[in-house]
Amino acid sequence: MQRERSVTPVQVADDWTPSSWRARPAVQQPTYEDPGELAEVLAQLGELPPLVTSWEILSLKSLLAEAADGRRFLLQGGDCAESFDDCTSPLISNRLKVMLQMSLVLTHGLRLPIVRVGRFAGQYAKPRSADSESRDGISLPCYRGDIVNGPAFTASSRRADPRRLLKAHARSAMTMNFVRALIDGGFADLHHPEYWDLAWVEHSPLHAEYRRMVESIGDSLRFMETLAGRPVGEFQRVDFHTSHEALLLHYEESLTRQVPRQWGWFNMSTHFPWIGMRTAALDGAHVEYCRGIRNPVGVKIGTSTKPDQLLRLIDALNPDNESGRLTLIHRMGARQIAEALPPLLAAVRAAGRKVLWCCDPMHGNTESLGSGIKTRRFENIRGELEQAFDIHAAAGTRLGGVHLELTGENVTECLGGARDLTESDLNRAYRSSVDPRLNYEQSIELAMLIVRKRGGSPAT
Ligand code: PEP
Ligand code: CO
Repeated sequence: MQRERSVTPVQVADDWTPSSWRARPAVQQPTYEDPGELAEVLAQLGELPPLVTSWEILSLKSLLAEAADGRRFLLQGGDCAESFDDCTSPLISNRLKVMLQMSLVLTHGLRLPIVRVGRFAGQYAKPRSADSESRDGISLPCYRGDIVNGPAFTASSRRADPRRLLKAHARSAMTMNFVRALIDGGFADLHHPEYWDLAWVEHSPLHAEYRRMVESIGDSLRFMETLAGRPVGEFQRVDFHTSHEALLLHYEESLTRQVPRQWGWFNMSTHFPWIGMRTAALDGAHVEYCRGIRNPVGVKIGTSTKPDQLLRLIDALNPDNESGRLTLIHRMGARQIAEALPPLLAAVRAAGRKVLWCCDPMHGNTESLGSGIKTRRFENIRGELEQAFDIHAAAGTRLGGVHLELTGENVTECLGGARDLTESDLNRAYRSSVDPRLNYEQSIELAMLIVRKRGGSPAT
């Protein structure tokens, strides 16, 4: 509650409503054959309970404000695209385990509390580079994420089906419910990091280093509790928040609500929606929708973003310069970041805009191999992230977070890393239906690299 009061009250622009986006160009939306069926589903969705609460949303906003000030570090991660079939107990708990382990590495090495935000419990809509896809002379609509249609290349699967909106809401609620139950039940208790071990990583080259760190944290905890003469309560529970790309605006609108004793509107399908790079046009529907909600929002920015355009985007999304409200997630690519990022940092800094800077080292480093497989090289991911720290330091700004596509499964989707995955490994366990994800080892390795880069010690 304390945190809420510290936020300067601002007001919703009077020309905004949850549906005012409909008057703007809305790119990346599916075409539904039957508007009546869509309207019926949206009416049902509008009656269903929200997935998060306004106080959780506002509390995350203040945590993000602290990250912008250098008092926390944001770890945002999860699948590129969640799938309905992956809403299972092992997949959800493994993803949580990786995030918890990474945040342990980061807290220990950076000496900073970590803001954990999952790309899950709603990450079901995907922007695509084309509307349709052709195979053997047959052309069908593209797969746009499980909230819209199915990945199988058949006409019935690729039809945009409004009933999927209800299923996405239900799957998100189940995911959230399970994550909340795990966390409340002590799964994230720092006294028991062994709960987070993933069976397949025992023989990992990074395992010994990680174990040493866990032991050292256990020692510190016992020491502090001996001094205090009692268990330290805060370590038994950690915060976990959710995020997804606010792409499918009908869905987002249906879950945009007002709550008693709060002014304004909240998107209650997630704590932290973000605008993807393809939908960040200043006069577009996505910016229009996001400017009116009180959630913290993110925006992806890429190499084509120009400083003046970025400043106008910031004005639209955070006119009151409220700290924690806006996270700029840059995703440039290892080869382009050195040229593309500095002018943006300089412009935002000179204009005195309060933003949290976050690096997504995934989406500017996607490549297709000769075999047609989409992959990312660990070296490029690492390279972009390391450069990002240096570029911010040189510009007098602060990199306050990282945005990753990762999974707790033993997948082989990105090349390189501790086990040096090669092209021939990719066939073994490539499961993503959209972008390639870091597996457990690659994720932990990246967390250790962040710590080294920031001058911390991952294993004392
Ligand atoms: C994504 O985060 O999966 C995505 C599509 O990213 P971007 O908008 O940065 O391309
Ligand atoms: Co992606």
